[in-house]
Amino acid sequence: MFYPLIRQALFQLEPEKAHEFTFQQLKRITGTPLEFLVRQSVPTKAINCMGISFKNPLGLAAGFDKNGDYIDAIGAMGFGFIEVGTVTPHAQPGNKKPRLFRLVKAGGLINRMGCNNLGVDNLINNIKNSNFGGVLGINIGKNQDTPIEQGKDDYLICMEKVYPYADYIAINISSPNTPELTNLQFGELLDNLLFSIKDKQTALQEYHNKYVPIAVKITPDMTKSELIQMADMLVKHNIDGVIATNTTTNRELVHGLDHSSQAGGLSGRPIHLISTEVISILSSELKGKLPIIGVGGIDSLMAAREKMAAGAALIQIYSGLIFNGPRLIKDIISDI
Ligand SMILES: Cc1cc2nc3c(=O)[nH]c(=O)nc-3n(C[C@H](O)[C@H](O)[C@H](O)COP(=O)(O)O)c2cc1C
Repeated sequence: MFYPLIRQALFQLEPEKAHEFTFQQLKRITGTPLEFLVRQSVPTKAINCMGISFKNPLGLAAGFDKNGDYIDAIGAMGFGFIEVGTVTPHAQPGNKKPRLFRLVKAGGLINRMGCNNLGVDNLINNIKNSNFGGVLGINIGKNQDTPIEQGKDDYLICMEKVYPYADYIAINISSPNTPELTNLQFGELLDNLLFSIKDKQTALQEYHNKYVPIAVKITPDMTKSELIQMADMLVKHNIDGVIATNTTTNRELVHGLDHSSQAGGLSGRPIHLISTEVISILSSELKGKLPIIGVGGIDSLMAAREKMAAGAALIQIYSGLIFNGPRLIKDIISDI
């Protein structure tokens, strides 16, 4: 009800500052008598996916809470699952600011954050101190200064550390803001990476006596034949899920708008159709062999339904939350 007013004030601030400020305030009141200002009750819409029980199919996408600072505050808003990260083995500052831009007319964002995060150990400490009762995904990546040929080692280091704390692990090989990262989505680099990840998962399952599913997060910037190859590779390696999609470097849909020529990944309403198309292609190739987590431009109940109609079993939001506020979560979960 109040969000249009709050948004007007927040949008006066530089985007990254607005994000930090908002969630610091929400964190401050979570767990106090003022928590009612954050908490939303939503109906249960239970769903099983990747062998995990979700209270509802709506999650928070990666990058919103990179370090797991706000898990309880975000959880209070009603999400069925939260994907924290991307975290890397070591802390890294990310790119120079400003690195996040609003395309207000289009309901989009462009970011070139560069995977700024405080490292995997810091994330684990924050998870230990949280009380979120829903499903927690942990999204992992490689440090910027790790050569791409050794990128695999960074994923294996993170996997080993987060495995006991994750309900699922997301492998981010699709951020456009880490040089060369997206090369890991193709050919031999992908084949080797998935082989090593699956091997590690088997070893960790034995050690911890617990199976933690692996989901691979992909770009929307692939051709149909590249997507089909990706789908086949995921099946070949028995990967448990695919998250489609990350942000795009394509600017056709926002051409001429303020900030549209900023470098980075575009998210929000402008990418809804291309992400949905990726889901449709994956869905017809995968034929249910592994579930799709649909993300990209969901800013309404209708957009959420379109993602599920295209084949997504679960959905996530990021930009839609910035533009529409927490009411979007309730609107989607109530009627999905
Ligand atoms: C500022 C910002 C930071 C992001 N950081 C990450 C990240 O660290 N890891 C990741 O896998 N995706 C990241 N994403 C991508 C989102 O998780 C999501 O895939 C994308 O924004 C599309 O969803 P949306 O249109 O609902 O925003 C980020 C997106 C934004 C806008």
